[in-house]
Amino acid sequence: MALSKKPYKGTRDFLPPDKRAQDYLFEKMHQSAQLFGFEHYDGPLLEEVELYKAKSGEELINDQIYSFEDRGKRFVAIRPEMTPTLARMVARVHREIPKPIRWYSIPNLYRYERPQRGRLREHWQFNCDIFGAPGRTGEVEIVQLLVSFLENFGANETHFEVLINDRTIVDSIFSSLTSNQETIYKLYKLVDKSKKIPEEALLKELGETGLEKQSIASFKRYLKLSSFDELFDFLNELNLSEAADNFKQFYHVIEGQSISKFLNFDPTIVRGLDYYTGIVFEVFDKHPDNRRAISGGGAYANLLQIFDEPALAGVGFGLGDVTLQDFLQSHGLMPDCTKASNDVLVSYQVTEGYQDLAELALNLRRENKKTLFSLEPLKFKKVFSQAEKVGARFVILYGEQEKDQHSVIIKNLASKEQETIPLKEFKQIIKFLNK
Ligand code: HAM
Repeated sequence: MALSKKPYKGTRDFLPPDKRAQDYLFEKMHQSAQLFGFEHYDGPLLEEVELYKAKSGEELINDQIYSFEDRGKRFVAIRPEMTPTLARMVARVHREIPKPIRWYSIPNLYRYERPQRGRLREHWQFNCDIFGAPGRTGEVEIVQLLVSFLENFGANETHFEVLINDRTIVDSIFSSLTSNQETIYKLYKLVDKSKKIPEEALLKELGETGLEKQSIASFKRYLKLSSFDELFDFLNELNLSEAADNFKQFYHVIEGQSISKFLNFDPTIVRGLDYYTGIVFEVFDKHPDNRRAISGGGAYANLLQIFDEPALAGVGFGLGDVTLQDFLQSHGLMPDCTKASNDVLVSYQVTEGYQDLAELALNLRRENKKTLFSLEPLKFKKVFSQAEKVGARFVILYGEQEKDQHSVIIKNLASKEQETIPLKEFKQIIKFLNK
């Protein structure tokens, strides 16, 4: 039986146009992170499973991780996320490097998921994180970076919003409803999926938690809160306003900034990963056909402690290439990447052309001109359709007459301007290309 030509379920082959589109996204990621002074890092594709067991959470470990025993009997996993690797790397070097540490990466990650729109088994994820920033400055900087990254594509507040919450607050509310840690964990999971399941199912599961009637009523009220002010009033009522100190600080700094128009409080944002301890957020697409998270992140205070290191507060986000591309496409913000882009197509119409123009093509590349050399005689009528296909802005032609005169015809395809230039006048050729 012939082998399947399809890539493994939930993964993608990147043919050149696909890779061009992805490279475009990656370039913007590098640019945006570097504009904020973030440094590029990377880690291995494989890690010991224990690294994820420590703090990533049940769903990732039980349902999503690709893990196996290696030949040396070690249990390893293909990285499903970058944050644990990052924490491990920061734990190794944080004593020697100045704070705050601002790092970014674009790793490919594997999660065993049911492939669907916006969810695959392999995706690339733009990760930006800060460690050791004082007060709420790290959180603010991370949200600024996230917003300005999306603004770099031409997106604005009509296209996306940043939904935000604080786990310290959620912890204190849930602890006021029950002292049972297992129930609190269940409430988190319930909140996390509350938008994805029907209300009846939610109420049924809520009933099964064993919470008292009054606590169930408070939980339901919590889920209905829809603004920062409503949240702060609710906390006052429960005598829990101290729990909001950090969130209020963050909110007050952000309030005066232009990015505040993107931010909205959302009680259902608690994040599925267990290591978050403070502010948590998700970027949501506002397009009605694509209401999903493009990015998620938050603050985590204790991740370095799993390596027996002192606490060093971190905050960051992950943003996936699949969801980003869907977002940009649904708002018409994704450029056409179907065509390559080149400066010149060097073609010849006589067989001697290869020999005569090979050096010219090489010299054009030495001048940083992206040059496609035809490598076989190209009929005059085919030159222009070929140039169009490879996205060349200029063509060079070399027929019988040019061969006899030791010259080339060079043509600007946009302006239709053309000149015949002797082959030995290389500078003149460059001048024409630079016009
Ligand atoms: P996460 O919410 O699991 O967070 O993933 C972040 C983003 O990665 C999602 O919003 C989505 O865009 C993308 N993503 C996740 N899983 C898939 C998938 N199966 N297919 C396509 N895209 C996906 C984290 O991973 C955290 N480690 C992020 C972080 C960094 N927190 C702090 N620093």
